[in-house]
Amino acid sequence: MKGLILSGGKGTRMRPITHTAAKQLLPVANKPILFYAVESLVGAGIREIGIIISPETGDDVKECLGDGDRWDVTIDYILQDEPLGLAHAVKTARDFLKDDPFVMYLGDNLIKDGVGPLVQRFEAGQADAFILLKEVENPSSFGVAVLNGDGKILSLEEKPKKPKSNLALVGVYLFNHEIHNAIDKIKPSKRGELEITDAIAKLIDMGHSVDSHVLTSWWLDTGKKDDMLEANRVVLDEMTEGKIDGFIDDITRISGRVAVGKGSKLKNCTVRGPAVIGENCCLENTYVGPFTSIGDRAKVSNAEIEHCILREDCQILDFHGRIEDSLIGVNVELTRGHHKPVAFRLMLGDDSKVEVV
Ligand code: TTP
Repeated sequence: MKGLILSGGKGTRMRPITHTAAKQLLPVANKPILFYAVESLVGAGIREIGIIISPETGDDVKECLGDGDRWDVTIDYILQDEPLGLAHAVKTARDFLKDDPFVMYLGDNLIKDGVGPLVQRFEAGQADAFILLKEVENPSSFGVAVLNGDGKILSLEEKPKKPKSNLALVGVYLFNHEIHNAIDKIKPSKRGELEITDAIAKLIDMGHSVDSHVLTSWWLDTGKKDDMLEANRVVLDEMTEGKIDGFIDDITRISGRVAVGKGSKLKNCTVRGPAVIGENCCLENTYVGPFTSIGDRAKVSNAEIEHCILREDCQILDFHGRIEDSLIGVNVELTRGHHKPVAFRLMLGDDSKVEVV
């Protein structure tokens, strides 16, 4: 069994962050999203992993993951010249995949449970494809599957206006070599992409059986800012214990599960977990609230930060205000023109909506 992780694409929904960075390398709980995909495959016993990369961000992805030594696996990089669809990515990886069965994993997706049990079920069963599904509230935004009573897929539709079920395709698929024959028979969709849903539908038309598993644990597609923050929240929420490797002064208060990396210094701060603070950070007179990740070498003073992802080398100095629900890119400098603290004391009636900008 091989692994194929899709880490190309354009990432248009995450601009401006993705103007300069691959969305799959954005950190969740201070670890690139892509690492979660690799670790999920490694955990399933997969030792040969191919990574689809784009010309724009491929070098960064290579630099970040390396040759796989860190996980004791081999990683092959496969350049997809243009993001012409998920099935196109599989076609591009044909030489790497040969006729071997493989797990295809979307590099911007996170699922709670590993794929080991699914790999075992696929290997033990007779199906030619196995897809992961999840009940969702807004099926029209996804590829949607209709099942028969024993979990076999009857039909699939991409972003249907009137969905026939609430079961969305999660970004993990298991295939054997038959998928290549199906991909060879499909045409680009209206949006100009070779769709994996069309290829799976073709497999079914060709008389092959496609099995499924409905996830009950969480699945997150990190396509947009709020998805990233939600992924960060969920992963931090599952962090079981804190670890303080940095320096914390006597008046800093830490509560809950908090990780502080080596070389970091916290002076007169309050940190409420779950939260992670990377290495060599410097935080002073600052409040860090739950569900916050702060990247390595960040400098923060006189600020309140909650439910945020701050990337590496950020500087938020003398801010005298609160930042929440925010995603802040690498090397951002954020200061305020005046040093007057902002504070609001409000008595607001029921159902008020207030947005202070
Ligand atoms: P998408 O999120 O569907 O596409 P995208 O990354 O281009 O994002 P956006 O819609 O914001 O422009 O892609 C899912 C994953 O698959 C993601 O990790 C990118 C990857 N991908 C490829 O590697 N090749 C492709 O041709 C496509 C469409 C996606």
